[in-house]
Amino acid sequence: MAELVIALDYPAMDAALATARTLRGVAEDAGGRLWMKVGLELFTASGPEVVARLKDMGFPVFLDLKFHDIPNTVRGAVRSAVATGVDMCNIHLSGGERMCRAAVEGLAEGAAVRGHGVAPILLGVTVLTSVAPGELPGGADPSAEAARLAVCGRDWGLGGVVCSGHEAHGIKQRCGRDFVCLTPGIRPAAPPSHQHGGGSGGDDQRRVMTPAEAVRAGSDYLVVGRPVTGAAGPNGPADAVRGILAEMLGA
Ligand code: C5P
Repeated sequence: MAELVIALDYPAMDAALATARTLRGVAEDAGGRLWMKVGLELFTASGPEVVARLKDMGFPVFLDLKFHDIPNTVRGAVRSAVATGVDMCNIHLSGGERMCRAAVEGLAEGAAVRGHGVAPILLGVTVLTSVAPGELPGGADPSAEAARLAVCGRDWGLGGVVCSGHEAHGIKQRCGRDFVCLTPGIRPAAPPSHQHGGGSGGDDQRRVMTPAEAVRAGSDYLVVGRPVTGAAGPNGPADAVRGILAEMLGA
């Protein structure tokens, strides 16, 4: 069964933790497990403390910082990320083979520092789900490029990729069933009453799917942010999560 990951894209830790608190137990009621995602905005504001606080609440945590730098720097960044206790983190596959292999080494080193439990998952970002056909330099097709990068990621030792739902099926066929596909750009078929927007108004995602479509395509993890965090009212986020889980279960 695919699992749901909530993108806590907030400018401060208190707001993120307040939403996380309202989501405790919601997925378990539906027989599932809910992840929390800490991205660039929240981590830059709060630092690693937010990871520890979410782990204390019992959530598995995906640290979505999309590292992309020289191999030695990325190796250290992944090592540090894993040592903080995250369960999943990611790098940009476009950083190339040496960078990705260095990240895999950093993963093992960080896990050794932590020294317990389930090995964390290292994912490679293929092509961002906000990129539409025609937007890549040279006119490359985003889905073809994502599939090409995914095969590289598998060969370089990563556990899976971040891709759109449109690519998940093909990537599973090429890379194997156990190669993880994590899919952002999820938009519920039945959106709750919400206030979400892409900052300047409008949603920046382009290669989108509904929860049911992404599950049917073979995605292992579905990432949803604004449809949950922007849902109106104190019960809005929890109700939105329940609705998305119902769509996933009905797939
Ligand atoms: O609000 P929304 O559901 O669009 O949030 C999607 C989340 O997934 C954001 O935090 C974004 O940074 C992240 N993400 C993405 N596309 C990727 C990788 C991560 O949208 N390829």
